[in-house]
Amino acid sequence: MDAEKGVLRDVRSALISIFMTHLSNYGNDRLGLYTFVNLANFVQTWTNLRLQTLPPAQLAHKYFELFPDQKDPLWQNPCDDKRHRDIWSKEKTCDRLPKFLVIGPQKTGTTALCLFLIMHPSILSNSPSPKSFEEVQFFNRNNYHRGIDWYMDFFPVPSNVTTDFLFEKSANYFHSEEAPKRAASLVPKAKIITILIDPSDRAYSWYQHQRSHEDPAALKFSFYEVISAGPNAPWELRTLQKRCLVPGWYASHIERWLVYFPPFQLLIIDGQQLRTAPATVMDEVQKFLGVSPHYNYSEALTFDSHKGFWCQLLEEGKTKCLGKSKGRKYPPMDSDSRAFLSSYYRDHNVELSKLLHRLGQPLPSWLRQELQKVR
Ligand code: A3P
Repeated sequence: MDAEKGVLRDVRSALISIFMTHLSNYGNDRLGLYTFVNLANFVQTWTNLRLQTLPPAQLAHKYFELFPDQKDPLWQNPCDDKRHRDIWSKEKTCDRLPKFLVIGPQKTGTTALCLFLIMHPSILSNSPSPKSFEEVQFFNRNNYHRGIDWYMDFFPVPSNVTTDFLFEKSANYFHSEEAPKRAASLVPKAKIITILIDPSDRAYSWYQHQRSHEDPAALKFSFYEVISAGPNAPWELRTLQKRCLVPGWYASHIERWLVYFPPFQLLIIDGQQLRTAPATVMDEVQKFLGVSPHYNYSEALTFDSHKGFWCQLLEEGKTKCLGKSKGRKYPPMDSDSRAFLSSYYRDHNVELSKLLHRLGQPLPSWLRQELQKVR
């Protein structure tokens, strides 16, 4: 008897059913409601189940209290399932989804890569987001809860679905816990591009970026103080430290992407090479994506000695370079910070070398140099 009660208690505490009567499907003849009310009466009269209800918003609250992990939806492409496609509005299309994602990490040359990509006649980027500048930041943050219509509105309708390549770059996707799973659910065939530079340089560039955005903690503490802060350091310093250092755990983050995407869908670009020989990198990117026509970046890019970087070559020898916030001028990293970071990232770099070896990819020169220090 006790066991029976236990079962009932479990059932009672766990079960929330949501019914839709589809009244209009029955030609508004009230048959749906009639059936529903009688079913409820039947259950109440002939079983021990206690039926309760609440207004929709309160019911939703109760439901998510009981099933908190269901708060987070996982969007899929509606067109992947014929049943969904059949009932989806004719006004809508599934073509406004990216064929590839540039996932970051921040400060590795992601904006330069985007500038070069959109020079290609078949590659189209998203429209800018008013909140996060050019980045949509859908898969990593709460924007994800705005749904796929919100996401798709950032993309143009491609004029040729087969040959046009839509993409978006959100540099925080790289180290996001959620992004790989969410991206694989909505755009499982998407290609993924990441760029790596020496994580120590990345951390320093990021710190300089924060300073120029007048982040109070970055203005208050030196770079060495940020990277070497201990567990008892003030909260703002610890937070800044985490944001500065964690994206540089390259192997762990890439491994997470590889749980959801097969290796052939992932391209790892050497950021140093992107900086010094972008045309070679762009040839590799075009091959990886399978875009056509082949675009000749050797002719379309030029080194701007004033900027100190490669830029788009315009008519009459003019250039279009990235703005002041990319390729900033700042003093070189001090030697104590360099030594600290070299040791901090040692194990992560060893893991990265093993990962690249497993993927059959060459090691970038900064990684080879760092590995020399391990021996
Ligand atoms: P710095 O400003 O620290 O030099 P991201 O766009 O991912 O934020 O990366 C910015 C970094 O891209 C810059 O960091 C710069 O070194 C690098 N970069 C690579 N190629 C570049 C280019 N052609 N123009 C400007 N910056 C480039």
